[in-house]
Amino acid sequence: MSLPRKVKMVEVGPRDGLQNEQQTIGAGVKIELVERLAAAGFPNVEAAAFVSPKWVPQMATSGDVMRDIKRRPGVVYSALVPNLKGFEAALAGDVDEVVIFGAASEAFSQKNINCSIAESIERFREVAEAAKRHRKRLRAAVSCAFGCPYQGEVPLAAVADVVRRLRELGCDEIDIADTIGVATPDKVRPVMETAMREFPIEGLSGHFHDTYGQALANIYASLEAGITIFHSSVAGLGGCPYAKGATGNVASEDVLYMMQGLGIDTGIDLDAVVDAGQFISAQLGRKSASRAGNAMAARRGG
Ligand code: HMG
Ligand code: MG
Repeated sequence: MSLPRKVKMVEVGPRDGLQNEQQTIGAGVKIELVERLAAAGFPNVEAAAFVSPKWVPQMATSGDVMRDIKRRPGVVYSALVPNLKGFEAALAGDVDEVVIFGAASEAFSQKNINCSIAESIERFREVAEAAKRHRKRLRAAVSCAFGCPYQGEVPLAAVADVVRRLRELGCDEIDIADTIGVATPDKVRPVMETAMREFPIEGLSGHFHDTYGQALANIYASLEAGITIFHSSVAGLGGCPYAKGATGNVASEDVLYMMQGLGIDTGIDLDAVVDAGQFISAQLGRKSASRAGNAMAARRGG
């Protein structure tokens, strides 16, 4: 089966990665992380979340981060935006891409954003209209597309339904997310094919958490299905505060190592990402969760 020759990588560590950290991380560290990742060549960095600080305290400094990062021309800086209040803050922070985030599971929607899927679409409609008016790119995440921590199985019809509703809002890109990392490669194709029937494949991305160690295999299965956009998190940072036990996204270094080996162009300097991974791990006071990152750092050291 032929694989794509080029993919777009979206670095989500500064948002999805750090949002779950219990220790306070200063805005300065977040800013340096975002700048390092953009300098390494990521075309898109998810840098912030304009959500309620009561729900996700770690993201309370998002305005400072967006204000103070030195921006690289051509890089898209994204932020999560759940409602119009978040949109106003994102606008003040001059984000390039607004990310609305819904779910294919009712139970998760309630826990994560405190409303039903149908209510979330209505809130997102206002955000989408505002984003279009201000000429911002609009992306949407579909959480729990492969399974839910609260309701278990998620039917394909639920994925199709939410992808269709998000398409109707005018999204430029839609993320098919394995929030709790439960998918195995055989599950990837049916879910991705379901999404493809509702939205152009060029705009679909794979957002895989690595909770059960399946993320690289799931990315490979997605490549085989024709997906060309992937999310990853430097040093494998992260988890979702509303998905108990969920660990980080697949580590960026591991995905980049695999892409390099497969001869798939990402335009990203893996060595610089390894440096960024070592930087943030040192700041957090623990070892990186990236196997490739640690191996490459050890080889350099020795
Ligand atoms: P709510 O409590 O239902 O909303 O929260 P509300 O409108 O009643 O507001 C309550 C309070 O929050 C009010 O403050 C609002 O002003 C404030 P108070 O009057 O009590 O002082 N508020 C806000 N403050 C700052 N920014 C805002 C904002 N909105 C309201 N935008 C809400 C609803 C959606 C706001 C809340 O549930 C929330 O912020 N949830 C965030 C959840 C979140 O960030 N989860 C993690 C990210 S999603 C994820 O990780 C999954 C993903 O990676 C894909 C995957 O892996 O699946 C994307
Ligand atoms: Mg996530």
